[in-house]
Amino acid sequence: MRPSKVPALQGPSSRRATGQKRLLQTVRLPELVRENTQSLRQERAFQGITAARCLLSCRPMESKRILIVDDEQNAREALRTMLLEEGYEVSEASDGQEALEALPEFAPAVVLADVRMPKMDGITLLRKAREAGYDSAFVMMTAFGSIETAVEAMRAGAENFLVKPLDINAVLVVLSKVLEKTRLVRETETLRARVQERYRFPNIIGDSPELQSVFDVVKRAAPTRATVLLLGESGTGKELVAQAIHEESPRKGKPFIKVNCAALSESLLESELFGHEKGSFTGAVGRREGRFELADQGTLFLDEIGEISPSLQIKLLRALQQREFERVGGTQTLKVDVRVVTATNRDLAGEVKAGRFREDLYYRLNVVAVTLPPLRQRKGDIPALVNHFIEKYATNYGKVVRGLAPGTLNALLRHDWPGNVRELENVVERAVVLAPGSQLTADDLPATLRGPRPLARSAESLIPGATLYDIERESILRTLEMVDGSTARAAEVLGISVRKIQYRLKEYASSTPSPESNEDDTETDEEVGGRTH
Ligand SMILES: Nc1ncnc2c1ncn2[C@@H]1O[C@H](COP(=O)(O)OP(=O)(O)OP(=O)(O)O)[C@@H](O)[C@H]1O
Ligand SMILES: [Mg+2]
Repeated sequence: MRPSKVPALQGPSSRRATGQKRLLQTVRLPELVRENTQSLRQERAFQGITAARCLLSCRPMESKRILIVDDEQNAREALRTMLLEEGYEVSEASDGQEALEALPEFAPAVVLADVRMPKMDGITLLRKAREAGYDSAFVMMTAFGSIETAVEAMRAGAENFLVKPLDINAVLVVLSKVLEKTRLVRETETLRARVQERYRFPNIIGDSPELQSVFDVVKRAAPTRATVLLLGESGTGKELVAQAIHEESPRKGKPFIKVNCAALSESLLESELFGHEKGSFTGAVGRREGRFELADQGTLFLDEIGEISPSLQIKLLRALQQREFERVGGTQTLKVDVRVVTATNRDLAGEVKAGRFREDLYYRLNVVAVTLPPLRQRKGDIPALVNHFIEKYATNYGKVVRGLAPGTLNALLRHDWPGNVRELENVVERAVVLAPGSQLTADDLPATLRGPRPLARSAESLIPGATLYDIERESILRTLEMVDGSTARAAEVLGISVRKIQYRLKEYASSTPSPESNEDDTETDEEVGGRTH
């Protein structure tokens, strides 16, 4: 608690002397102070705040601006002197009207307003400020005994009230409480916005930093008309991202047309893309519109673009550059408005170097390139993906499967996933089908994934003789299993950052599992030492 005698008020200035006199005519309000201090503590204990703090590595600068609104000049000045000494930035207004005018420029964090004032009273000021969209917190100053006014002020949206004449401690405690609450609200809002941002693509699961950088580019490129080239190993989610680009663009609601360039012969692919006129080749019994035409106003997704022949590469280049083409066997030039997204799991730059892919087409396709990272490089996404697929296939197969039994996640993390997310999806689907119980166990996984028997110990049974690292690993893995694989929720529960969980999951994925039971504990000192963190 701060001393109630404020040395700051002792000074040569007559203004200070007046202020001091006024402030020292205080009534003690120990209850209010105690109550404020208690609720401050409660709010600090607000669930999720630890996570908010961890996640918000750079907080916005906290405003300490206070606007004092009081028609009594002496009262204003006394408060001003004290608050300046406490490091606040202060501005004054002598009535509600003047305060309202000061709000846009000064943008105070807190308005400390007297209730009774000429022209415009404090409560009207508060209402008008809210109507005009200002979100400064309001603390009302009311005369001793006018409890009804205080209640009215609180109803109108004031954060708190102070009884006049003011007690210095009460002022400081209330201000710090209000500022702390404002900061927490702001942090929670930022956190919520970030979480929403993370899952902005509803079907694409994963909050690893690697995938988040992909989302960043996708989010920026999607609303434009730029051609996007999606690169990455098979099963990493290129098609999913192509769809997301369409959904996030103004073309949403218009056609999203997919062509698999590897599935068709050269001539069939040409007719598939550009259409054909009746009789243009054997079997062309009627005129047919091509995919470019069908995708007009929408998005055309050319999958496996690395497979198209040199002659088709030239035709595609023209269609992309001039946005016009002719149907096979036709003379009429057709114009379309199509956004093109392409994908390949080949090294397209290497194909260009090897002379198998036209350089000019490559640059035309590669306006924005996005590389989907393989799953083995972002194992932190595994828990959330597993949960997503469990839900999907439990619904599909009408089974009650709620999550993973202890140790199963560990086995999934150790695998290298050469088939990426597609392979993981298949493994989970199979496990859901085979699982006899309501949790997936390591026995429901293919033999290649089972490896040595997984860890199945609880954190409690680990404690005697276990390393802190082992205990931490159990906590993280069990918590992830409990919160359906969400690293954000696990971070909140454990009071650590999402980054730390991501980092640890990568580590667990690469480290050799520790032996399961105490009887056959073969762990060497070296191994234990190597895992001290
Ligand atoms: N981040 C993800 N979240 C949810 N599901 C995903 C994710 N990534 C991939 N999948 C799923 O994995 C499967 C494979 O994804 P997709 O077909 O998009 O991969 P791809 O990169 O196009 O593979 P290929 O090169 O073999 O065509 C799909 O069922 C897809 O829904
Ligand atoms: Mg694909």
